[in-house]
Amino acid sequence: MDASSLATAKRVVELGPGTGGTTRTFLRHLAQDAQLLSIELSPYFHELLGEIADPRFTNHLGKAEDLAAILAMHGMEQPDVVISGIPFSKIPKAIGTRVARAVRDSLADNGRFIAYQFRRDVAWITDPIMGEPASCSLELLNIPPMRVYSWFKTARG
Ligand SMILES: C[S@@+](CC[C@H](N)C(=O)[O-])C[C@H]1O[C@@H](n2cnc3c(N)ncnc32)[C@H](O)[C@@H]1O
Repeated sequence: MDASSLATAKRVVELGPGTGGTTRTFLRHLAQDAQLLSIELSPYFHELLGEIADPRFTNHLGKAEDLAAILAMHGMEQPDVVISGIPFSKIPKAIGTRVARAVRDSLADNGRFIAYQFRRDVAWITDPIMGEPASCSLELLNIPPMRVYSWFKTARG
């Protein structure tokens, strides 16, 4: 995602932050009054993420598919942007489908879902739920090259 659209977002959720490299980059581009909630499944990565000391950042240990309950737990309103690093090609399709539904249901109208992936599988899972992505770009500077998919949630869902 380009830094300018992140700079205008107020509520951002990151799914699968891993070691937090992406998390730190997002925080560099987010506005001072923005919030970033990261949801990570691994207790090991969750602990590493605890080293990020930024008042805008909330570090949650849990499952991306429980997004609605996690947002409610932290009193966070519908996010403008959800960014996913979850490897959809490696998780069971049923879980990928639950994640995609949770994102669609929780995003604010006109909100954006971005998924970065090495493989195409994310689109096969999300297409029936979110429709075709608005864009898919190949980040050739990443090694190996990575695909970045982007969807917008319309008022119709
Ligand atoms: C490829 S890593 C993300 C890399 C990270 N963005 C970085 O730059 O270091 C994917 C992460 O998704 C997490 N993950 C996988 N399934 C998940 C789920 N259902 N909910 C939350 N996190 C999940 C994994 O534990 C892993 O840390």
